[in-house]
Amino acid sequence: MPDSPSVIIFGASGDLTWRKLIPAFFNLYRKERLPDDFRIVGYARTDYTEQAFREHLHDGVQQFGGLDGDEALWRDFAERLHYVQGVYDEKEDMKRLAQRLEDIEPEGAGRLYYLSVPPLLYATIVNCLGKVDMARPKNGWRRLVIEKPFGHDLSSARELNRQLHEVVSEEQIFRIDHYLGKETVQNILVFRFANAIFEPVWNRNYVNHVQITAAEDVDVEHRAGYYDDVGVVRDMFQNHLMQLLALVSMEPPISFEAEALRNEKVKVLSAIRPISPEELARQSARGQYEGYCDTEEVEKRSQTATFAALKLYIDNWRWQGVPFYLRSGKAMARKTTEIVVHFKCPPHLMFQLDSDDGIRANYIALCIQPNEGIHLRFEAKVPDDTTMRSVDMEFHYGDEFGPTAIPDAYERLLLDALQGDAGLFTRADEIELAWRLIDTVIAGWQTEQAPPLESYPPGSWGPSSSEQLVVHNKGRWTTGCGSQESGN
Ligand code: BG6
Repeated sequence: MPDSPSVIIFGASGDLTWRKLIPAFFNLYRKERLPDDFRIVGYARTDYTEQAFREHLHDGVQQFGGLDGDEALWRDFAERLHYVQGVYDEKEDMKRLAQRLEDIEPEGAGRLYYLSVPPLLYATIVNCLGKVDMARPKNGWRRLVIEKPFGHDLSSARELNRQLHEVVSEEQIFRIDHYLGKETVQNILVFRFANAIFEPVWNRNYVNHVQITAAEDVDVEHRAGYYDDVGVVRDMFQNHLMQLLALVSMEPPISFEAEALRNEKVKVLSAIRPISPEELARQSARGQYEGYCDTEEVEKRSQTATFAALKLYIDNWRWQGVPFYLRSGKAMARKTTEIVVHFKCPPHLMFQLDSDDGIRANYIALCIQPNEGIHLRFEAKVPDDTTMRSVDMEFHYGDEFGPTAIPDAYERLLLDALQGDAGLFTRADEIELAWRLIDTVIAGWQTEQAPPLESYPPGSWGPSSSEQLVVHNKGRWTTGCGSQESGN
């Protein structure tokens, strides 16, 4: 990396900096991935001395990985950590930050502004940066990293894009979806496009349907206040599940360049058929785990869904008629994120079946987390018998690359943002397309045709209506990355 960048974290006293960002930067430093000359400047309202700020971050690195008792390395790293106290809409404070940066950075240093603040402050900060002329590239580049949520619906996302574009260009904006930083998510592209054997069958001629699950065993924990306002569809579908869907269904990009990649995602996202209010009862399910309304900061009669399932179609040549089932929820049986591509059954079976289940189809399960890997399910003859049984061919990251091979998603994203590679960040039009779809679901759920909000016991696979949604695979969700088939 030729330049000697500065990273400026707004909201540096918050949880994300302490738990994710600094541990990720420290790990990159340990792996010698960062340029020799760089600095990180925290900016927040909290009144820290530089020393107190460094000690606070030291605790985070100790707790969330990376330190491993290497205090000498930490001391070297910590010398690059600085702190400026200030408020977000005050030009004088911002100018002090600018002055501090000029004092410590070499001529022509690039700057990565990381907005780790509540969404309401995004526009305020960018506006203030613009007013004091810190946003325009001068000698060095200027980039902006924005955390989710990006908007609350289509119109707020558009408005935020408009406000940002008044100050910075789209090329300067790096919108984070941490799922794109996951190794297993990036590997979807490698699996599909660096192998010749899968892509020929990756279409409506061979694929029966696709299931995408992002289940969490935790409940809303300490984020209840935020969550009750947002719900599972905004929290998980608009961003993470839509990205998984796009990557698994898009056409091959002409290159691995950011724009080529994002163009293909946009194309496929714009081909998703909107769900009309009449279809919503058949194509969606929603649930709330029992006890959710007793959580502090949750409305006593909250109608917020903590589980949702959607059945979507993609209207293009490749996927016409193939349903994509998506589900996500809190307080579910276990944590698993996976994409299961179910193939069609053989047209004719001449073998004896060992169960009433009928012919079983093959599937490929892309295991995003926590058992990172890929499983191929196929039929095998049972030895010394005349029947057959489903068996798995499995690839596990841990076995192949070692148990600690997978870095935290933030490491990849921070490095890419520093290097100016926007491929793993979402573009304005992608965000807006995802909101357009999600808005129709949320609006439809306000109407009389909406499916009922069913309660489900914590530790289950969600409400029974989620099972009824799946008309393929004999009405079953598949958890192909764990021990058992089937969702409920
Ligand atoms: C976040 C959501 O974006 O993703 C959380 O706001 C959720 O509610 C989290 O728990 C899940 O991330 P991961 O990486 O654990 O799947």
